[in-house]
Formats: sequence, structure tokens, C-alpha cells
Amino acid sequence: MTSDTDWAKRALIYQVYVRSFADSDGDGLGDLAGVRSRLDHIAALGADAIWLTPFYPSPMVDGGYDVADYRDVDPRLGTLADFDALLSAAHDCGIRVITDIVPNHTSHQHPWFRQALTARPGSSARARYIFRPGRGPDSVEPPNNWQSVFGGPAWTRLPDGDWYLHLFAPEQPDLNWDSTEVRAEFVDVLRFWLDRGVDGIRVDVAHGLVKPAGLPDATVAGVSGNRPYFDQDGVHEIYREWRKVLDSYAPTRIMVAEARLRDTVRTARYVRPDEMDQAFNFEFLWAPWSLERIRDAISRSLTAMNHVGRSPTWVIGNHDEIRVASRLAADVRSSAVGLRRARAMALLSLALPGSAYIYQGDELGLPQAPDLAPEFHEDPKRRRSAEPRASRDECRIPMPWHGDRPPFGFGPDDSTTPWLPQPEAWARLTVAAQQHDPDSTLTMYQQATRLRQTDSDLTGDDFAWKPAPSGVLAFTRGQRFTCAVNFGPTAVPLDQLNLPENPLLCSTPIDDDALPANAAIWSR
Ligand code: GLC
Repeated sequence: MTSDTDWAKRALIYQVYVRSFADSDGDGLGDLAGVRSRLDHIAALGADAIWLTPFYPSPMVDGGYDVADYRDVDPRLGTLADFDALLSAAHDCGIRVITDIVPNHTSHQHPWFRQALTARPGSSARARYIFRPGRGPDSVEPPNNWQSVFGGPAWTRLPDGDWYLHLFAPEQPDLNWDSTEVRAEFVDVLRFWLDRGVDGIRVDVAHGLVKPAGLPDATVAGVSGNRPYFDQDGVHEIYREWRKVLDSYAPTRIMVAEARLRDTVRTARYVRPDEMDQAFNFEFLWAPWSLERIRDAISRSLTAMNHVGRSPTWVIGNHDEIRVASRLAADVRSSAVGLRRARAMALLSLALPGSAYIYQGDELGLPQAPDLAPEFHEDPKRRRSAEPRASRDECRIPMPWHGDRPPFGFGPDDSTTPWLPQPEAWARLTVAAQQHDPDSTLTMYQQATRLRQTDSDLTGDDFAWKPAPSGVLAFTRGQRFTCAVNFGPTAVPLDQLNLPENPLLCSTPIDDDALPANAAIWSR
């Protein structure tokens, strides 16, 4: 039996980080009209859907994941009319649209939090958030020992002595999901976007909404280690309710969990039949370049998702992680090797059964921006961290489209400098520079996504490991398709790989009939 959400099982989903994709009005910041103007690029990758990161009115303390109004568009990023125009243009190209919902916290500028600030301790305005008296004499100690994900205590004290919880930045106060008002509000927000016609929603920090009763101190024990505020059973009740809301639409819509959990079996609980459709798979984002680790990640993901009857997702990049081309170079400190490995990981993940995500710019092989000057760093995760930490700004540099110098077509010619500076060296990485180059990363992505859509072995669910020489990971799909990845330090002769006749695609040009180190090959 087919269902309305079958498309998601093997969908190719392109993540648009709106601020950095394309700037239509030249203010240096990407916007919704910019996304619309570049849909052809996304269509050429064969994407079934785009996921738009938050574009709602926001003080942008956390790049828009601090929402001040859930039912509007930030004026710097466009208007609701721009959103509707983007949605309909995307649908005209056969591309579905997934929007981001941020239910764990609001911005400190949300009207509810402003009301809470001027209200009294114990008032109903404060009951929408998590306010508590402190500990110790005069309440000077925070209510418990929880640490914010971005560093530092997860509590901030107001002048009247009351403390409020923020699992992220202090400008992102956590909502109280025990409140029926909060629950009703989000059902209404969902309906607002579903009524406009969005095809799905991504749920930010899906594992965080419900806090353990009594807000106990964190200890190292427990299912979520020292983070007792994550993955409480109560969150699932919320998604079951949301599922009913989604299913009240025809066709029904999809829901994707961002639940950053180390245990795939726990992640799979978010996609049980009456909950979400997909959960981001963080395994590849956290794995080094290691055959054993990647094989293990694939096996565990397939088993866990199979158990709940859902397809896995494969993610090698997003707006929170070090760019894949730099991440995989970390142990070799060679950007050329990093890019080779990133291309191999792309072919690997696009050959697996399930749904695959592409983070904007990974199809160009963009690296992490090196040497971003301190004045450009906005990321609260970097600002609040005690140790030097890679900043997420470095993976959010505006897209290079064409031309030989910044802004590389990101905005109109006379536009303001992009909000984050683009490296000069990106001239050779622009879309225009790559699109007619048969060896470019972009061309490889386009070829791979086309095959992924048309090859009958890749459109099925079959998957089996295939024996391979030491250092090579290989698997088959269907009757005739093989993907092999060389994790070892030296090239492996193709005849040792026992591949089917036809090489279809290789992530690095083949020399001397051997699969180079740090490369993947598809054949049939
Ligand atoms: C998610 C987002 C990240 C954001 C955080 C807090 O992890 O992907 O960008 O900072 O939630 O909303």
C-alpha cells in the first residue's frame, strides 16, 4: 500500500541556510526571494524537497533559532508574500518545502517572554517558561547544576531574584511544555504553515521539550548521560498529537526530528509509526574517516530504523557542523585529501537506501572558511564557550555563484558585502566555475543524484555488504549495483574489487585501473 508520505522514504532533501544562500535585495543577507531565484540550481541536483532554516522575525542571536514571532517572516529575509511565492515556485519545479519549527525555546524578544519579564514570580505569564527560585541563601545559586549546550550555566537570574532556564543562549528561554497554553499555541503555529501549503516540518531540538519532573541535578548516569533534560519519554506524546494534526491534511505532511542522541535506538523512537517520518542521522557527522566506524554507523542505522519500519536518513553536513571537506581532513591536514574524502562520502551516502540530505555548498566541495576575523563571529556557541572552539559561522559562509571575486553573485553587483566574508580562493569553487567541468564536485553530485533517481537498483530497498579487500568497504544494492569506498592508504586494483562490468561514477578519476585511496566508485 502506498501512502502520502512515501516520497520521504528515499527523498533527496537540500538544506537551504536562508541567510547564506542568495541575496535578492543586496543588503548582504540571503533572503526568501533569493532562494526562489536560485531554485534552478536545486532542481538540477534532482532534489525532492528543500528544508529552509528559520526565516521568522528574530534578533538573530542564534541565526534565527531564536524566534520572536512564529507566524511571520523577518523583514530582512522577506515577507509572507515572498514565502508564498517561493512555495509555489518550488512546487512548480516539483520541489517540496519543509520549514523549521523551534518549539523548545523562543527568543527573549518574543511577546510572551517580554510579558514574563515584567510579571511577578509565580504569575501565569512566567508559567509559560521555566522559572524557579534559586538555591542557597538569598537564592543566589541556580536552581540546579544544568549546563547550557552553548556553555555556561543553563540558568539566568532576573533582578527580582527568579531564575529562568535556557538550554541554549540566555536569549533563548525554554518554554514550559507542561503548559496547555504552550501546547495549544504550537498546534496553531503548525496549522498556520500547513494551511499555507508546506509539505513538512523539521522539529528543532525535538528531544528537549519535556524536562524531568522536579528538574533534578545532572549526574553522569541515566539514558542521556549528564543531560537529563534530553530525551524524556514525555516528548513522544507531543509528536503523537502533532501527527494527528499533520494527518488531518490531505495529502498528509511529513515531520523530521532533530534529536541529537548518541544512541540510534533511542533516535528511532521518534519515528515510530504514530510519530515522525524521519529523524536526522548524526552518525556520519560524528564519525572520523574510518572504515570500521562508517560500517558500524551504517549497520546500526539500518537495524534501528528497520525495527520501527522506517527508512534511515544520511547526513554528511549541516549548518551546525564543520564542513565535511574540512572535517575529514582533520587528521591529515590536507585540504586536497579532505575534499577527496568528502566526495567519497557523498557517493557513499547517496548510494545507501533511505533519504539523503545535502547541505548547501557541500555539492561545491566548500571547505570551512579559514581565518574568519573575530569581528565576524556571531555564533553564541563560540562566544559562550570556555575553550577555543570551531565556530559554526565558518560553515555558514554565503554561497559563491559566479564571478572571480566576492560576493561571487551572492547578491546583485552593487550589493553590500555579504554578512560573512567569502574567501577570495572560492573563485574556483563557484557554481559557474564548476558546472561545465566534468571533474568538478558539482558535476559528480549531479551525475550521482540523477543515477540515484533513475537506477532501478538504487530506487529499491535492497542492501547487502559485499566482501572486499582490506581497507575497502563495499555493498550492493539490488541485483547489479555496487558501491566501493577505499578507506586505505593506497590504491586498490579494480580487478581485486570484483565489481560488476560498468563503472558508473568515481569520486576521483581512476588511474591505472585502480581505485585510489580516499575514493568511492559506483558500478553496475
Ligand atoms: C538546533 C539547530 C542549531 C541551534 C539549536 C538551538 O540544534 O540546528 O542551529 O543553535 O538547535 O535552537
